[in-house]
Amino acid sequence: MKTQITELFGIEHPIIQGGMHFVGFAELAAAVSNAGGLGIITGLTQGTPEKLDAEIKKCQALTDKPFGVNLTFLPSMTPPDYPGLIEVIINNGVKVVETAGRNPAVYMPAMKDAGIKVIHKCTSVRHSIKAQDIGCDAVSVDGFECGGHPGEDDIPNFILLPRAADELEIPFVASGGMADARSLVAAMALGAEGMNMGTRFIATEDAPVHQNVKEAIVNASELDTRLIMRSLTNTERVLNNPAVESLMAKEKALGDDLKFEDIIDEVAGVYPKVMMDGEPEAGAWSCGMVAGLVSDIPTVKELIDRIMSEAEDIIASKLQKAI
Ligand SMILES: Cc1cc2nc3c(=O)[nH]c(=O)nc-3n(C[C@H](O)[C@H](O)[C@H](O)COP(=O)(O)O)c2cc1C
Repeated sequence: MKTQITELFGIEHPIIQGGMHFVGFAELAAAVSNAGGLGIITGLTQGTPEKLDAEIKKCQALTDKPFGVNLTFLPSMTPPDYPGLIEVIINNGVKVVETAGRNPAVYMPAMKDAGIKVIHKCTSVRHSIKAQDIGCDAVSVDGFECGGHPGEDDIPNFILLPRAADELEIPFVASGGMADARSLVAAMALGAEGMNMGTRFIATEDAPVHQNVKEAIVNASELDTRLIMRSLTNTERVLNNPAVESLMAKEKALGDDLKFEDIIDEVAGVYPKVMMDGEPEAGAWSCGMVAGLVSDIPTVKELIDRIMSEAEDIIASKLQKAI
């Protein structure tokens, strides 16, 4: 399938694997790229430029296809070494960066000078337009359904995507709630040039996370995610579990007086325990409503091949026949 996104990134299929903390390691990124999509290493999981350098080199040993690095810009008292992380991305010849979180404008000149294509992930039309204005090449439009941080507007993709299509000149992919061929074809009908998946890629053989996490996603339904940290204006969609319920009880009791320190036990340092040690109930971790559409643990290649062949079938049989 050829779309503006496959052309922009030099990939075979219009499917991107979004950056995911403690999931987006070289093994997953390479598997997605080898299967014809665009794999993404999560920069902040590596933490330091030295560790990101090693992870990029590992990915380059596993694939000769294009892959990218996610840089999530968080508000922080002690920010990560973003200039150092960007330097190793450039020095290793990585040609795609997925930015997310705060506005990446100050880092755009360095990335553009190095010939890097920047896709900014954001949850609103106004932020998408801003991304276009600062020179991003594409946008990943993340609807309210998404795992992770859906923002504070709560606009689902059936509204958000056509709104983005009405306003944007640069291409965009649909993100949030994407799982299969139906998602891809629907996203394209709504104006997207492809799709970005997070949660669906965790439940694959290639995702370098504990089997318990994959099974937790397969066993979850679309009713099993919760929104946390809304009063901190840092809303996150996570998989429900007893730790999340205890966090939400604190939110209810403290209301607008809630401070990050009040819930630190349920959110800080949780990812390595969940993803590596296989303790999905250790705390709050991002997961999309799309878990309700995930019922198996295929290889990444099986998943992408299935999506592409079923998408062609939907377009050529069902849609073509309807007219
Ligand atoms: C476990 C997990 C961790 C994530 N970590 C990040 C991250 O560090 N940076 C980021 O930009 N997005 C992160 N995301 C969001 C994904 O890149 C993607 O936008 C989102 O999962 C799309 O929604 P979906 O889960 O419905 O596919 C994370 C998502 C999950 C499920």
